Amino acid sequence: MIMDPLVDRFGRRIEYLRLSVTDRCDLRCAYCIPEGFKGFEEPAHWLDFDEIERLMHLFAGLGLKRIRLTGGEPLLRRNVTDLCRRLSNLPGIEDISLSTNATQLAGMAADLRQAGVTRLNVSLDSLREEGVERINGRPVLGQILDGLEAGRAAGFAPIKINMVVMQENAGEIESMVDYCMERGFVLRLIELMPMGDTARRMGYVDLQPVIAQLRNRFDLIDRVLPGGGPARYLGSRDGRFNIGFITPISQHFCDTCNRVRLTVDGILHLCLGQEEQVDFRSLMRGGATDPEIIAAIRRAIDLKPERHEFREAPGKLVRFMNMTGG
Ligand code: 5AD
Ligand code: SF4
Repeated sequence: MIMDPLVDRFGRRIEYLRLSVTDRCDLRCAYCIPEGFKGFEEPAHWLDFDEIERLMHLFAGLGLKRIRLTGGEPLLRRNVTDLCRRLSNLPGIEDISLSTNATQLAGMAADLRQAGVTRLNVSLDSLREEGVERINGRPVLGQILDGLEAGRAAGFAPIKINMVVMQENAGEIESMVDYCMERGFVLRLIELMPMGDTARRMGYVDLQPVIAQLRNRFDLIDRVLPGGGPARYLGSRDGRFNIGFITPISQHFCDTCNRVRLTVDGILHLCLGQEEQVDFRSLMRGGATDPEIIAAIRRAIDLKPERHEFREAPGKLVRFMNMTGG
């Protein structure tokens, strides 16, 4: 039974939650983790699976429909498959998806699919080993490509490839398009967000001119894809290939934002680019009842800001992406 669904002050219906299940990662992507970063939090601060399930159950009662597991790297969380199974069985939850760097995917794809995960987004910024090593900090291209094959064999469809475009890899966009076209992967190009100095140093590339070039070069037309996310899509005329663009900087999409983010330590962030947050770990560990938590969820949604200010105040945010889960 759904009570009054969650709607924020700007009329946006909140039905999607990005759930970070770890802040650890086996890569060191230059745009994500600050140089020399070691200060991973201790697991005692992490919500355990019972706490996560309880909170997601209460959200689902307020109309939450879709959950995406993120990190850090979500596949590094011990027994993450069990968590997926528990979440996919919650009444009201229609879709469990996962964003991964795919380094561990080859051995886990089949189990994840069994556990009710329906869709995968895989980060891949280069198809050259030197490029991967420079951008992502480890020589893992082979592992990632094996993971992608395993994902396809396990029946995940569509598999989306997320490429963060920066000066370093802008020259590789066309080879990435060819690679994804051949394999039926949906490619999504993402503008670099200025989260911390390391990301700001990688060199922002405006995707608007890139969109115009690709449209002509590959004869692409506008497409509407289900999923309700912020990407705008172009596709081939035969419908076999689609490419999406996520442009938080050159064209922000805050007016249709339907999501919130929960960090591994139980803090709900109302906006990726702003500081508004509510601590659900303290609340739950302090013995709050279900009605008290439901009231806190409603109050939190009332705090959701209208929009981010990456363009107006690029130096403002000191939080890192591996903390908030992208
Ligand atoms: N800008 C844009 N996307 C980022 N991600 C992490 N850091 C950034 C950033 N600074 C996203 C990318 C990546 C995923 C793990 O998180 O989509 O593929
Ligand atoms: Fe890890 Fe993803 Fe951050 Fe890269 S972007 S360091 S894969 S969490």
